[in-house]
Amino acid sequence: MFFRLMYHIVLPVYVVFVIFASISLEKTQNAFFMIVFGLLFIASIFLERIYARLFLFIAASEIISLLLFHFTSQLNWCYSIYIILLSKFLFQVRGAVKGIFLGFGFMVFYTFIRATYSPVNSYSIFGVGSDFLTSIAVVLIIQYIIEMETKKNTLIEEKKREELRHKEEKVELIAEMAAGLAHEIRNPLTIIQGFLQHSKENNYNIQPWHDLIFGEVNRMNKLTVEFLQFSKPDVSQYQAYSIHECLKRVISLTKSNACCLGHQIVYTEYNPDLLVKMDFNKMVQVFVNLINNAVQSMVESGRITIRLFKEGDLAVCEVHDTGVGIEDTDLKKIFNPFFTTKAEGTGLGLPICQKIIQDHWGTIEVSSTPEYGSTFTICLPLETGASHAPDFAKD
Ligand SMILES: Nc1ncnc2c1ncn2[C@@H]1O[C@H](COP(=O)(O)OP(=O)(O)O)[C@@H](O)[C@H]1O
Ligand SMILES: [Mg+2]
Repeated sequence: MFFRLMYHIVLPVYVVFVIFASISLEKTQNAFFMIVFGLLFIASIFLERIYARLFLFIAASEIISLLLFHFTSQLNWCYSIYIILLSKFLFQVRGAVKGIFLGFGFMVFYTFIRATYSPVNSYSIFGVGSDFLTSIAVVLIIQYIIEMETKKNTLIEEKKREELRHKEEKVELIAEMAAGLAHEIRNPLTIIQGFLQHSKENNYNIQPWHDLIFGEVNRMNKLTVEFLQFSKPDVSQYQAYSIHECLKRVISLTKSNACCLGHQIVYTEYNPDLLVKMDFNKMVQVFVNLINNAVQSMVESGRITIRLFKEGDLAVCEVHDTGVGIEDTDLKKIFNPFFTTKAEGTGLGLPICQKIIQDHWGTIEVSSTPEYGSTFTICLPLETGASHAPDFAKD
């Protein structure tokens, strides 16, 4: 846009200005040729855009017509036209050294032509020095712009590549999850199919197996219900909620079950002012999942400790249990969909937690010592602003 404004509007206007000035000041001795060379110069500038392949030929025509225009106009103001043309070439000829040579070349031509109408004295010799220094400054400024532009383009390219990789990873994950779900559902289906077939062909009474069949149907139901929780959240619906309120809600939902099993939930510290932009119900789901896992990991009566604190511009929440802990080999797999060490497990709890936390621009990490317990740490970016009261009716 600015490029075109400069070369297709400012430059022609400048040429017309010089023509007008040269005629008015009676500097030119051949107004007709000056106008012809001026028009030729402008035409070359426009032709370059149309016939990009003939660049060298057109560039030569631009330079020659400018030299002749300068020669016939007999005006020093042509200097600015040299500089504008030089800046245009500098975008095509990359590199500071090449640029300085080109700039010097332009200045040599300009100085020679100026010498044809201007007396050579100490003033004009100093003028030449100033012209050369100006050309160096122009070259450096254009180099700086080119460098900035290149850096910006590289960043944009990198971002595009990153997005593409992200998309590919997503597609891969979906395929992996679909295959996993199909596999998980096929097992109970095969069992049920076996019973039905047996009952149909051999008139076999499957009544004693009803509970087992129901169990398998329930398992499939649980898998599909949990799987649906991978749905993408509506980010526009996120609101700033107090993470402390969220944890209070989680504790009220999980406390009775934990107490029944002889466990204790301790929420030692809290900071009611930590606000996080979130889908409240999904965040509750994350902590309920973590506490359920913690409860399931504790064979004897144990303790679940929840800590909430601020670290820089992050709200950090730790959920620690005194359960059996996680073996090093399993630690790498626990966020993989369908990884479970439980007979009744689906292996979808933690991947869902991870997905929800990522959808909230946060991170979830785990550390564990086998036999002593595990700690899940969630970091979420803090929000500054007014909090909303959680809408429990949505549950
Ligand atoms: N607090 C914890 N203590 C010990 N192991 C855990 C804990 N949380 C998760 N795990 C391990 O990670 C696995 C995956 O958990 P999850 O995704 O919630 O699926 P599920 O609970 O259905 O097995 C569990 O089977 C268990 O082996
Ligand atoms: Mg679980």
